[in-house]
Amino acid sequence: MAPVTKEAKKHITGGETDGGITSSYATNDGIKLKVPYSFMGSIYDEAEEKAVLAAMHQDTLTMGPKTAEFQKKFAALHNVKHALAVSNCTTGMHVATQLFNIKPGDEVIVTPNTFIATSLVILKEGAKPVYADIDPVTFNIDPKCIEKLVTPKTKAIYCVHYAGLMCDMDPIMEIARKHKLYVLEDCAHAPCAEYKGRRAGSVGDIGVFSFHSLKNITTCGEGGMITTNNDEFAKGAENLRCMNLDHWKPELTDFEFDGITLKKESKLDYWIPSHFDVKSWNGHWGNNYRMNEIQAAVGCVQCDKAEMLTNRRREIGLALNDGLKGIKGITPVYDPEGYRHVYHLYTICVEEKELGASRDEFMRVLYREEGIQTILHYQPSYHFSGVKAAYKYPRNLCPHAEAFFYKRETNLPMHPKLTDEDVKTMIQGIKNAAEKMRSRGK
Ligand SMILES: Cc1ncc(COP(=O)(O)O)c(C=O)c1O
Repeated sequence: MAPVTKEAKKHITGGETDGGITSSYATNDGIKLKVPYSFMGSIYDEAEEKAVLAAMHQDTLTMGPKTAEFQKKFAALHNVKHALAVSNCTTGMHVATQLFNIKPGDEVIVTPNTFIATSLVILKEGAKPVYADIDPVTFNIDPKCIEKLVTPKTKAIYCVHYAGLMCDMDPIMEIARKHKLYVLEDCAHAPCAEYKGRRAGSVGDIGVFSFHSLKNITTCGEGGMITTNNDEFAKGAENLRCMNLDHWKPELTDFEFDGITLKKESKLDYWIPSHFDVKSWNGHWGNNYRMNEIQAAVGCVQCDKAEMLTNRRREIGLALNDGLKGIKGITPVYDPEGYRHVYHLYTICVEEKELGASRDEFMRVLYREEGIQTILHYQPSYHFSGVKAAYKYPRNLCPHAEAFFYKRETNLPMHPKLTDEDVKTMIQGIKNAAEKMRSRGK
């Protein structure tokens, strides 16, 4: 495996960034870290470098042959009929929300344990996110919490395969079919994840993936993919990501422009290459959410590496599960039979009563004294001030999600470039921190 370069190390231990939490978690507080939380979600080598250079010399630099190839490869990898590349996962989920025709006054049932993007696309279309609590073991939306939230206004269920473990999709799909709801899979964490032999993005009506810098597959820092088995959604996504424009087909129809008629027989050759028509999709206007060819070229290489990248993440995840087994007060990752967890995140839970110290105290010691940087994902979406102000959600809306974020969880560094030595250091650091907590509590 390619070593971490000096340049990359400089970045992960605290270089200057403009993107805040979307580009680095470095704090520049003088703490010497043994294992920092880095943004190296994937591994690039000569293969990506060659692909980038070749794409840069193409005639077209956006939505060209590399995008088509990436889509084909990604669809095959996820065993799904259509894959449509977009600029990122948020824009892809916005397109899905438009395709589901979600409008002001509608409700969408969604997990609170997710990056704000999953709720933002609902809010952007004027609909209300209705939060269903999570399962305290998997941290995914709990199907048992969904059905009681269905009302005549409910249009869809948006679930997130948190950390790379797929949601329990069968009961979710059953509720959706019973109440005629759409299902969106937010697969930002879950390329190549599996549930009962089915891959993420192939079970719900639409799946959307992220190729942001942190993710399991990356396309130069940003990127996304919409997946679906539904031909109409595929056609709609293709249009809505690109202005919802239609190429002029003079051989098929006459064209009317305010009294000026262009007969199909007239074939104005010089109009043909660049002329187009624009419509709305069920009242939703199109967008520019295209992916460029450089990103797509990198995506093609990343598809070829996807199994290797996933297997390395699983190897690290399983080693951590093994090493953290039996530490009183620390719950390692749940990796059940019948699923393929792809370890986008490695989330441990600190059980305060058993450890005799709070999660925050534990995190502080792990960071300051053991040099292991851990981070929190995710504050319940309804606690963000703008979201709260918009819908005045009641207190203690999702008790498991709140306990998870405010009291229990933290995320260890997780990416395929971690060495076996890094993994040992993390295990030892956690053992030491737990021991310190216990002896200080005596
Ligand atoms: C669960 C989840 N959904 C959506 C997104 C948004 O992805 P993107 O940055 O590609 O828009 C992220 C990114 O962090 C995420 O973690």
